[in-house]
Amino acid sequence: MQTEQQKNLWWQEEIIYQIYPRSFQDSNGDGVGDLRGIIQRLDYLQELGIKAIWISPIFESPMADFGYDISNYTGIHPLFGTMEDFDELLAEVHKRGMKLLLDLVPNHTSDQHPWFLESRSSRNNPKRDWYIWKDPKPDGSEPNNWLSMFGGTGWEWDEKTQQFYYHGFLKEQPDLNWRNPEVQEAMMNVMRFWLDKGIDGFRIDVIFHMIKDDQFRNNPQNPDYQPHMNKYDQLLPIYSTDQPEVHDIVAMMRQVADDYQERVLIGEIYLPLHKLVTYYGVNQSGVHLPFNFQLLVSPWDSQQIAIVIDQYEGSLPADGWPNWVLSNHDQSRISSRVGKAQARIAAMLLLTLRGTPTIYYGDEIGMRDVPIPAEEVQDPQGLNMPDLNLTRDPARTPMQWDDSTNAGFSPAKPWLRLPPDFKRINVKSQLQNPFSILNLYKRLIKLRQQELALKAGNYTPIFSDKQIISYTRAAAGTSFLIVLNLSHRPAYFKPQHFTFSGVVEIATYPELENLPVKDYINLGGDEGVIIRIDN
Ligand code: NOJ
Repeated sequence: MQTEQQKNLWWQEEIIYQIYPRSFQDSNGDGVGDLRGIIQRLDYLQELGIKAIWISPIFESPMADFGYDISNYTGIHPLFGTMEDFDELLAEVHKRGMKLLLDLVPNHTSDQHPWFLESRSSRNNPKRDWYIWKDPKPDGSEPNNWLSMFGGTGWEWDEKTQQFYYHGFLKEQPDLNWRNPEVQEAMMNVMRFWLDKGIDGFRIDVIFHMIKDDQFRNNPQNPDYQPHMNKYDQLLPIYSTDQPEVHDIVAMMRQVADDYQERVLIGEIYLPLHKLVTYYGVNQSGVHLPFNFQLLVSPWDSQQIAIVIDQYEGSLPADGWPNWVLSNHDQSRISSRVGKAQARIAAMLLLTLRGTPTIYYGDEIGMRDVPIPAEEVQDPQGLNMPDLNLTRDPARTPMQWDDSTNAGFSPAKPWLRLPPDFKRINVKSQLQNPFSILNLYKRLIKLRQQELALKAGNYTPIFSDKQIISYTRAAAGTSFLIVLNLSHRPAYFKPQHFTFSGVVEIATYPELENLPVKDYINLGGDEGVIIRIDN
């Protein structure tokens, strides 16, 4: 068993930390985070136990979608620094034994990318077919009913060349035509550029959007649509996303990554489980980790979470490595979704489930979504659908480092405001408080790193009810029992068919720690424990 387990690769055993670069640390006093700022904070991450960092886009971009609209895939945006700064960051990351992942955005470019400028210049430009151009219907309307994720139609009329182009996101983000081999080759070269530099992998943006139905059929209505939802959800995007041919493209990307040593590809995919797992590919020809957003999208209810975990475990292909995510830059933060007390339970869950965990910057100090007044909203998703409260800004606010000006993030006015409570809720104050969520994260990470059972051991569900979920993790003769109370009321764990004895190793409320337990444990509301089972 031990030898089997030792074959695990770094991306299976280590923890990934997502940095939203605009908001992590500003080093040059312009109110926006940058690469040198990240370098300044690497020691913090190392101390926390982080081994891999994924940085959201840092490339040249008009910033219509804050970097997810790229105008040069191999250039660094001056806001974030220079290529020399990047090289230094990569060297500093590697010096600490850590890994660096970048964001690859292959589905679309900026409308200012030279490829698109050429493509739109005339119908017979050699790059015309690099994007998705279509004639209007005879009545002059859009070629089909596809919608943009950011509101309105997905088609933009081009006056000069008298055709529509398709954009699944902003009109400033035209979708590339991935059926064109030249596009494929160009993007594989982008990957090689960064892999040659020595980065350790990519998180790949909306990988499931890359190929569209070749007949451009209308998407059907979504019978479950509710008016409070994103307008994009009015239709089921069955013809504009997740087409069978996408797997050939993913396999192509995997082959590029496999030409290098131990690089990882992580796919951003919002799909039901049975579709999500197809992105592992046949015989490991897909991405190494299709991001598993089940904990992001499921209601925080013990029975539902227990089902989600078991369904996910049961859906994985035999050679598919699991992974878990609690928050990211597109969704509400975990502390805001489940509350402060349950955020500690969520941390224990994330760091004891089987599979690679991804931590979103600031979650480790329990940062909450920050209310952003309407006149300060920056996110196009929020600006385009102002009545729906869809802005992603609240989960993208500056990291709260200390109680000094602007939380130590920047001497200048930050690009997004800080919450009024940053003087209390920040890294510095939490480091001094042994009971802080930051210290809970640190201890959970440390235990996970020390224990093969938690890093890579078997997962066995034990019992769940309307308050509790519980499971064991075991490897090489060591077992842990994890019992989590997802409710605010006391809960009594006494499973009928499972006996155990052991000692509480870590508890969300540390008073329970070192308590010997046998066959049952009583938990207060919001209490969770990791019990080391006696041999
Ligand atoms: C997914 C990214 O995570 C999101 O931030 C972005 O707006 C869209 N893709 C478009 O690139």
